Amino acid sequence: MSNQEKQVMGDYDISIIRPQMRGEDVGLRGHGMSAERLKAIKKGLLALHTLELMASNIYKFQIGREPNELNRQLIAAMCNEMTHYQDFQVKLYEYGFRPGVLRWAYWIVGFVFGFGSRLLGTKAILKTGIWVETKAVHHYAQLLSSVEWDEDTRKIIEKDQADEYGHINRWKNLLQSIQAEVKP
Ligand SMILES: [Fe+2]
Ligand SMILES: [Fe+2]
Repeated sequence: MSNQEKQVMGDYDISIIRPQMRGEDVGLRGHGMSAERLKAIKKGLLALHTLELMASNIYKFQIGREPNELNRQLIAAMCNEMTHYQDFQVKLYEYGFRPGVLRWAYWIVGFVFGFGSRLLGTKAILKTGIWVETKAVHHYAQLLSSVEWDEDTRKIIEKDQADEYGHINRWKNLLQSIQAEVKP
């Protein structure tokens, strides 16, 4: 598959790792919503914002110096997770919320998973990615079904979830190709 080819997951093009955003796309949200609904949205956005910080750090610390395909794909995944992190930070402020002050703890968790798996080698890098992303898509699914999102935010969450599915598939394919090489 060429790098330029469109990769569709559900309604979303996951070959776009940093979608275009215009100034007018920033909106002030939450007006007229019930306190209960706002509470659920806040909790969901804080969880997603923190998880994406962890995810971007995992990939950041998995990237090695060799100019190979794995490292190229890890850089793309890091960029994609930075986009997700940005998505939820913007949404938090649009709603008048603030990021969680304890999210640095997840920065450390991301570093430990990322750097730890890098020390263990390529298979550990890929298996860590598959494991973390599988947890992420479940978390996304749970938040999509349990929270009454506004339409713009729902679309962002769906796109980001589609990206996470894309990551799982990419790491699974790479793992398979490595395992096929090892066999006689
Ligand atoms: Fe993500
Ligand atoms: Fe991801």
